[in-house]
Parts: sequence; C-alpha cells; structure tokens
Amino acid sequence: MKIELLSQHDISRLVEIEQHANPYPWQQNAFVSSFADSYFSYKLLDDSGEIQGFYFAQLILEQLELFNICVASDMQGRGYGKVLLQHFLQEGRSRGATEAFLEVRSTNDNAIALYEKCGFSKTGVRQNYYVQGDSKADAILMALVM
Ligand SMILES: CC(C)(COP(=O)(O)OP(=O)(O)OC[C@H]1O[C@@H](n2cnc3c(N)ncnc32)[C@H](O)[C@@H]1OP(=O)(O)O)[C@@H](O)C(=O)NCCC(=O)NCCS
Repeated sequence: MKIELLSQHDISRLVEIEQHANPYPWQQNAFVSSFADSYFSYKLLDDSGEIQGFYFAQLILEQLELFNICVASDMQGRGYGKVLLQHFLQEGRSRGATEAFLEVRSTNDNAIALYEKCGFSKTGVRQNYYVQGDSKADAILMALVM
C-alpha cells in the first residue's frame, strides 16, 4: 500500500468507492469542487495500483478540516482508515496546521471510534444537521489540538 496525491482523473473510482462504502455518498460534483486551491487530498493505492481509499481536507490559515475519508468496503477493518487519518494529520502539520476539525453523523459509530482513537474529542452537536427525506441525524463536531 502507498499514499499519493489525488487528481481529478481519479474521480470516477472515488465515486465508485463512495457508492459502495458510504450510505450517504458524495456525488461527482462534490469531488470536482474539492480540488480548489485550499484543499488537499490523497489516495491509498494497493500493490496493483488500484485506489482503495482516500481523504479530502482543507487548510485555511492554521485550521485543518477533514471533509471526507473513505475506505473501500471490502478493505475496511484492516487499519487503512487509521493510516489515512494519520497521514491527514501529519500532512496538515507539515503545512502549518495547529488545530483539526471534522463533522460526523452521530450514527456513524465506526468513524467516531476511528476519530477518537486518533485523538479527536467531541466538542459539540448540531441537532438535525443531516436531513435526507424524512430522516434526520445530528452532526457531532470533533476537534484535535495538533
Ligand atoms: C470510517 C472508515 C473510514 C474507517 O476505515 P477502516 O479502514 O475500516 O478503519 P480501521 O480499520 O483503520 O479502524 C480504525 C479504528 O476505527 C474503529 N473502527 C473502524 N471500523 C470499526 C468497526 N466496524 N467497529 C468498531 N470500530 C471500528 C476502531 O476504533 C478501529 O481501531 P481498532 O481496529 O484498533 O479497534 C470506514 O468505515 C469507511 O470508509 N466508512 C464509510 C465512509 C465514512 O463513513 N466516512 C466517514 C465520514 S465522516
């Protein structure tokens, strides 16, 4: 496995991974707009060069934000999410970040466990932040001082 910078050419594979792994997947246009200047993003490649995970982040001044992190569904539970999250923190630090932030659906136990394992703490809740049809879920805000 290795980690490399993402490019817009990778978007179709990212959409495919999201559709399978995430019950609330980003659509193509969300990926396209996340290649703007203040963003950085990396992919996890397996030994045959296939993308098996990725993350999207934004750095504004010293504040680092995680926008998306995903591991292909059949590769989950093998430590790759942790590898990607640690890369995000290390890359943010090297670009000058002093604090990291993220939002996560309150029902996403796996992601919350991953974030806590890597040092994030819950700092707040946005009630009914995610609305999809009739279903609503709170957003948990998490932060880490770097
Ligand atoms: C969240 C996600 C990125 C985790 O990736 P992963 O490769 O499965 O995670 P890892 O194997 O690195 O696990 C790291 C830690 O996360 C937690 N975790 C991950 N999957 C878990 C599960 N099924 N049950 C309980 N804890 C879990 C554990 O604390 C684990 O540490 P441990 O194995 O030492 O106990 C992955 O589940 C995913 O892509 N989900 C869909 C997209 C998504 O929800 N992204 C987050 C949006 S905010």
